Amino acid sequence: GKGNYRHFMEKELHEHPVVLGDTLRQYIDPASRAVALPELPFDPVAVPKISFSACGSAYLAAQVGRYWIEQVARIPVDADIASELRYRDPPLPEGGAALLVSQSGETADTLAALRLLRERGQRVLSVVNVAESSMARESHGTVLTVAGPEIGVASTKAFTAQLAVLASLALGFGRARGTLAPAEEARLTAALLEVPAHAAALLEDSSEILELAREVAQARDVLFLGRGSLYPIALEGALKLKELSYIHAEGYAAGEMKHGPIALIDPAVPVIALCPSGPLFEKTASNLQEAAARGGRIMAFTDAAGAPALRRFAERVVVLPAVDPFVAPILHAIPVQLLAYHVAVLKGTDVDQPRNLAKAVTVE
Ligand code: M6R
Repeated sequence: GKGNYRHFMEKELHEHPVVLGDTLRQYIDPASRAVALPELPFDPVAVPKISFSACGSAYLAAQVGRYWIEQVARIPVDADIASELRYRDPPLPEGGAALLVSQSGETADTLAALRLLRERGQRVLSVVNVAESSMARESHGTVLTVAGPEIGVASTKAFTAQLAVLASLALGFGRARGTLAPAEEARLTAALLEVPAHAAALLEDSSEILELAREVAQARDVLFLGRGSLYPIALEGALKLKELSYIHAEGYAAGEMKHGPIALIDPAVPVIALCPSGPLFEKTASNLQEAAARGGRIMAFTDAAGAPALRRFAERVVVLPAVDPFVAPILHAIPVQLLAYHVAVLKGTDVDQPRNLAKAVTVE
């Protein structure tokens, strides 16, 4: 049941801390802070390429996974929408790895991509939340997200659990390949293990996000911006807002604004920016400043170090706990999901069962 929550989605949002902790504990030993990956169907040291394939939010998790694996393990990675991969006919190297990401393990397009990648000689690893699912059965190996059943059509806790698994995989690959120094591994695993507590702190008081939701609920169009690993989270924010509140939203890479979308900037189009401090902060902040100078209303998520610079031009700044930039996409996923939830509640849409959608899309 929903317990004391109004919707399954609200309950599931509040399960982020527990699910993140449970999932991370499967792959990281809290005492030694070392990543311990299960047996994999390919050797991360020799693998020539990783091809991710997934749909919807799972595809966005895969995109974050691509940034992580490239950064710490230096393996070439592709990430495709499963329905596109099926018909794209990409050249695939002998012995390459295919990673399928899916909450249900039953999504028709992802399953078809799995079969295609397997036929083409790829070693298939699925990241699924359902151990007995079709994808788990048809893969050479499976790693599980420990999210528990997710009832709301919107993927919430399953999404952050996918991120937790993919971050662990990236660190495990980096360790195996020697591209990640032991001290760096310890620093990043420590940062990951702190995420559940930060998530809990963030969920304790969502009054600022509720205030932001009241403004967003008035809009007809909304832009979400991010850079690097926050770019897929901007896409996740836009996807959640669309599917739950039926407000038109788009996610963009902040640096891409001046190539077209900046023409949309207008006081009626709120700009939600994901801009934590870190190596990309100045770049994103300057894109936001350009949008503000053209009348854009900037609503930014950042941390204490990023807040002062953004307050000079942003209408609202929501300060999240300070974390290592490596884990920032996990932490930022939570407020954008919360925002979509609150906007949907304000608009009175069917939060757990949005129109036209199914929890598992088992047709092509
Ligand atoms: O079960 P899957 O993870 O394969 O589902 C993929 C998508 O259908 C799913 O993530 C969808 O985009 C969600 N409704 C997004 O919240």
